[in-house]
Amino acid sequence: MAKIAYLGAGNMGQGMILRLLSAGHKVAVYNRSPEKTRPLQERGANFAASPRAAAEDVDAIFSSVSDDQASRLVWTGPEGALSSKLPPQTLVIECSTLSHDWVMELAGIVVSKGLRYIDCPVAGRPDAAASGDLRLFVGAHEADLNAAGPLFQPISKKVFHFGPVGAGTAFKLIYNLMGAIQVAALAEAMVQAEGAGIDLHVAAEAFSNGFTGSPHVIRHSAVMAEGKRGQAVAFSGRGRLKDSLYGVHLAEKLGRQAEIGKAAAHVFEQMVNLGMGAANDSEVIDALRAAVGVGSHSQ
Ligand SMILES: NC(=O)c1ccc[n+]([C@@H]2O[C@H](COP(=O)([O-])OP(=O)(O)OC[C@H]3O[C@@H](n4cnc5c(N)ncnc54)[C@H](OP(=O)(O)O)[C@@H]3O)[C@@H](O)[C@H]2O)c1
Repeated sequence: MAKIAYLGAGNMGQGMILRLLSAGHKVAVYNRSPEKTRPLQERGANFAASPRAAAEDVDAIFSSVSDDQASRLVWTGPEGALSSKLPPQTLVIECSTLSHDWVMELAGIVVSKGLRYIDCPVAGRPDAAASGDLRLFVGAHEADLNAAGPLFQPISKKVFHFGPVGAGTAFKLIYNLMGAIQVAALAEAMVQAEGAGIDLHVAAEAFSNGFTGSPHVIRHSAVMAEGKRGQAVAFSGRGRLKDSLYGVHLAEKLGRQAEIGKAAAHVFEQMVNLGMGAANDSEVIDALRAAVGVGSHSQ
């Protein structure tokens, strides 16, 4: 069994750490807010006061943190994991959704230290992380991916290998931009239906049963119609905005059009600017209502 450092015990990290522990791996956990590591310690994880301390004497280091700024800190900050004494070939497995620019910079630093970098953003919500059912979008050398294979078994039933380092993040950003477009388009359509005097439950059922009924539409239309607020956050509006902006930036870097992606980013920006960034992405419907001076139908 492997010795693992895990940086970031947020919604996604919690589930992945528990899966790694259940598979018998030894896991040292660092989280900026130490209290979140308590339930993990009760299940056998070791507490680490810094990323550097977590990374001491391990075979692999995973990270799942919010954004570029957090990733930069946990890897290359003064107490970052890469300042630890790491044996050559240690696997560095970055599972956060980050900008393509930062992933390439980080991978360069990791490789220059004689370590192996696996670009491994994930798809699936916190429930999928907890049940070991994430999809992994990997960019890595084939040999490095094979070396990480046993560590991926407890957390994923499907690994997509898109190519070299950077390809996993590129696909993840393209995939999430498409997801953001679907959620934003649905919110817009629901607000239009509301304006036409249509019952949102009926609209949700019709959208879900028609050609419009993608898993995003099925999931979010029901939540939007229900109108519940303040549910446990699976994926926040702020997270949607972050991923959309990284996705639009990647498209621009590639010289490709992202006009629809920019519109989706704008919708989530409206949500964040209204102070709703920490709420679930479904609540973006309230930002669109506010934009036309219509109140929310909260229950
Ligand atoms: N939620 C989803 O459905 C989902 C799905 C796929 C991928 N993702 C991606 O997975 C990653 C984690 O998402 P999540 O849902 O677990 O987010 P989360 O619950 O908000 O957790 C974020 C984590 O990042 C840490 N963090 C934030 N800023 C930091 C900083 N400046 N320094 C050190 N640590 C910092 C947080 O520490 P504290 O606990 O101290 O705040 C926490 O451990 C993100 O990149 C997200 O885009 C999420």
